[in-house]
Amino acid sequence: PQRRRYALMVVLIGFMGAGKSTVGRIVADLLGAPFVDSDVLIERREGRSIREMFDLHGEPYFRQIERAVVAELLEDRTAVVALGGGAALDPEIGRMLSSHTVVYLQVPYEQAMERINGDAFRPLLQTSGVRKVYERRLPVYDALATMRIDTDGRRADDVAVEILRAL
Ligand code: S3P
Repeated sequence: PQRRRYALMVVLIGFMGAGKSTVGRIVADLLGAPFVDSDVLIERREGRSIREMFDLHGEPYFRQIERAVVAELLEDRTAVVALGGGAALDPEIGRMLSSHTVVYLQVPYEQAMERINGDAFRPLLQTSGVRKVYERRLPVYDALATMRIDTDGRRADDVAVEILRAL
């Protein structure tokens, strides 16, 4: 059967803990359209967790798979896509995003850390200097964004409705 291709595509970017997956799922539900989280698809494809991929093969390996999976999702025109927090930093992915509606979910550093609360499955959190990474990434997210949404202290469904209204 032919897969349905969507004219409208929303790609969510932002730091870990911004709510990309939670908000993305709600946006897709409200649109009655498919949603894919790139991290989940990567884990399904590889048959292992991102944590294991980092441990076994290193971050560059993960980034390579990530690039291929994101390219596929965009080509397939999956309606709503949540990207892993580091995906947008890849210059090639950055170029691919230029023709899409890119929603940047902004989150203050402290709140992001609270939301993910030392999640052992996020390898980046096991390293020092996470705040530096956060600060370095913000301008990149901002430059790629076509829509910026402040999630500070807000509920995911409230954020999702704001995105829908702005589409
Ligand atoms: C990463 C974020 C994670 C995941 C991986 C690397 C990053 O996704 O892709 O652990 O570099 O910021 P989330 O943003 O969904 O946590």
